[in-house]
Amino acid sequence: MNAPQTGLKRASETFDVARFRKDFPILGTKVNGKPLVYLDNAASSQMPQPVLDRWIRYQTTQHSNIHRAVHYLSETATAESEVARRKVQAFINAREDREVIFTTGTTDAINLVAHGYGRKFIGAGDEIVLTTLEHHSNIVPWQMVAEEKGARIRVVPINDRGELLIEEYLKLLGPRTKIVAVGHVSNALGTINPVRDMIEAAHAKGIPVLLDGAQAAPHLRLDMQALDCDFYAFSGHKMFGPTGIGILYGKAAWLEKMQPFKGGGDMILSVTFEKTIYNVPPGKFEAGTPPIAAAITLGAAVDYIESIGIERIHAHETDLLDYATDQVNRLPGVRIVGTAEKKAAVVSFVVDGVHPHDVGTLLNEDGIAVRTGHHCTQPVMQRFGIPATSRASFAFYNTHAEIDALVAGIKRVQKVFR
Ligand SMILES: Cc1ncc(COP(=O)(O)O)c(C=O)c1O
Repeated sequence: MNAPQTGLKRASETFDVARFRKDFPILGTKVNGKPLVYLDNAASSQMPQPVLDRWIRYQTTQHSNIHRAVHYLSETATAESEVARRKVQAFINAREDREVIFTTGTTDAINLVAHGYGRKFIGAGDEIVLTTLEHHSNIVPWQMVAEEKGARIRVVPINDRGELLIEEYLKLLGPRTKIVAVGHVSNALGTINPVRDMIEAAHAKGIPVLLDGAQAAPHLRLDMQALDCDFYAFSGHKMFGPTGIGILYGKAAWLEKMQPFKGGGDMILSVTFEKTIYNVPPGKFEAGTPPIAAAITLGAAVDYIESIGIERIHAHETDLLDYATDQVNRLPGVRIVGTAEKKAAVVSFVVDGVHPHDVGTLLNEDGIAVRTGHHCTQPVMQRFGIPATSRASFAFYNTHAEIDALVAGIKRVQKVFR
């Protein structure tokens, strides 16, 4: 494998990636007789042993339904799930633990806001501001509300690098704008959006802002109080935790005013056939049995991330991004889609004359896992006039050698299709 370019490995030199890799049993998998090169972290990242252990410990010693009994296991499970909530609260620096709501994922969290906030506060003729970069899960729930209420979706365009046109964004903010919903980091292109400035501009006009943080939570330091967003959504399975758990952060003032999205057990204070009185947040938004095991295990994932340090993770991933960008740019006939100045560790690319699905299939023969397709961002693909890309997305356990393997794999794809 080629040695990486001088100067590109600075942060990684002090980052003991080999040690961290040992925590991830799945990284020892062989695919087609080759070592797995897992570069599909934007879709789902892997779980380290301490996180897997926490799942097993819960299931073998603490499992019970929560909030509903006075027996030992139920009280333990209830207490542990509240510990996990407070870990997440600290991780995102939310002011209060009741501002942290357990959902089943980012999609569920955004739907909660679209329906809980949107159905109450958005009316006919009102406007919802989204961007071209959004994942479908930050488009479709808003379209559903817009259709029901007679509201209008306005879309912030992007430039050829995949950056939002902020002047256009500012023009879209008006008296009818009832919410701005924008991704913190684009999953298709990696663009890190200038969300702090966007929030400030929206707030200057009294408009609340939801951030889709699915691609930011595993990579960037999150600080709800500094960001001052009104809502923030992310998923456990993209941050070294399990599937089935996500978080909605919401400012307490909004959560109190919003209507619940789902009705059922636990989200009530009292029920009669005449009238139900809803619980206070977060219970008001957590109807039914929540994903208890997954929530507690997410707490362990947060501990794991913090034990390494998100700033060190970000620095190593930035090295990987710079190296991968440089190496892929050297390949004739390969084009990176998404070249924003501020990017997370995502490299989306197209290979001349080869459909991305064929790229993915051939790379898989070499044991390399990338994602191919529209990445649930069809408007991004339409903007670039392409049906799909191949996407390599990195986590802190990836290495420069794995990028070399990717580049060698792409060269083999080109040879096969020559
Ligand atoms: C930016 C973004 N938003 C939302 C989602 C949806 O997340 P989930 O499927 O965990 O609900 C994803 C998943 O890839 C994403 O990348």
